[in-house]
Amino acid sequence: MERLDDPGYIAKLDKSKMRMLIGNLPDQFSMASKSFQEAKLNLKARFSSVVVAGMGGSAIGGDLVSAYFSSTFPAPVWVVRDYEVPSFVTRNTLLIAVSYSGNTEETLSAFEDGKGKRARIVCIASGGSLMEMAKSESIPFLTVPGGMPPRCAIGFLSTSILLSIGLAFDVSGLTTELEEVGDVLKKMKNVLEPDNPVKKNPAKKIAGKLAHKLPFVYSSSRMTDPVARRWSTQINENAKSLCHYSSLPELDHNEIVGWGIPREVSYASHILFLDPGNLSEKLRRRLAVTKEIISQMAEVESLTASGTGNLARLFSLVFLGDYVSFYLAMLNGVDPTPIERIDLLKKKLKEGH
Ligand code: F6R
Repeated sequence: MERLDDPGYIAKLDKSKMRMLIGNLPDQFSMASKSFQEAKLNLKARFSSVVVAGMGGSAIGGDLVSAYFSSTFPAPVWVVRDYEVPSFVTRNTLLIAVSYSGNTEETLSAFEDGKGKRARIVCIASGGSLMEMAKSESIPFLTVPGGMPPRCAIGFLSTSILLSIGLAFDVSGLTTELEEVGDVLKKMKNVLEPDNPVKKNPAKKIAGKLAHKLPFVYSSSRMTDPVARRWSTQINENAKSLCHYSSLPELDHNEIVGWGIPREVSYASHILFLDPGNLSEKLRRRLAVTKEIISQMAEVESLTASGTGNLARLFSLVFLGDYVSFYLAMLNGVDPTPIERIDLLKKKLKEGH
């Protein structure tokens, strides 16, 4: 654990400065809001559904926005990680095709499929084929700054998706919520950065508990489901480690029974429950009882969101998880940035293997 308080150790391992990219997240929301206003998109139409097509770090923003809107929004927001869009897509669908690189084959294919189904499309990318196609076909396009791993652009991508949907459906109050996200994350950053030592830094402490364990991230409600997924994918890509995620209330109807065998897995696991801090009474009781039962078999702890608005609550947990994945990478002795297997796979598929 002392290694996490050693700036020399961190700088040597973190060759491509993942730490800095994670720390830049609080600024992404206001920057993306500004570029959204400047883009002056025209999305006036009567939409009956929204589909966000993307993969990996480009899709998760869609999940977060969908979760944010889930209890208030009049239309379904579907996130599609596939080559095709659902068959319900028509000219009344707003299709948001998101690929940070602009070159992900599933997203390009879903974009073509949506075009064939006459969806109204918005493209979001930092460049690549998606940008070229959008420009050549005069499809509304939002650009995000390039040069970073897609998973580090989560603030830019989420804000662009959120504001596109907000514009299409005339949703008010989003800018205020986005401002709160920036403010809450800036405060958290002071506590989570490497110069704050282990004893006062919750992200370092959590990473210490996860080191050499199998992390389980349990979402306590529909709203935090994508956050659990984000924790898992960040632990996969940054810490190069497996991580399982699941959700309440569903896990109370199956997965809870699985705890215990193999015994070694229970002993080697650490469970983190994500609590948005504004759960309904029913979910609060369920979380407490579930924790109590599972704690007989494995280590458990709850992490509670910061902020007042739902968007700030969601991103506060995302931000904490991003730092935890970074410190876990440090404890695992790996450089958080390279994702060699994903690069290899994309290369092989491109070569026609
Ligand atoms: C890399 C990452 C990946 C990519 C995914 C799709 O940081 O997180 O999950 O996001 O391979 O690529 P893009 O985002 O370029 O469409």
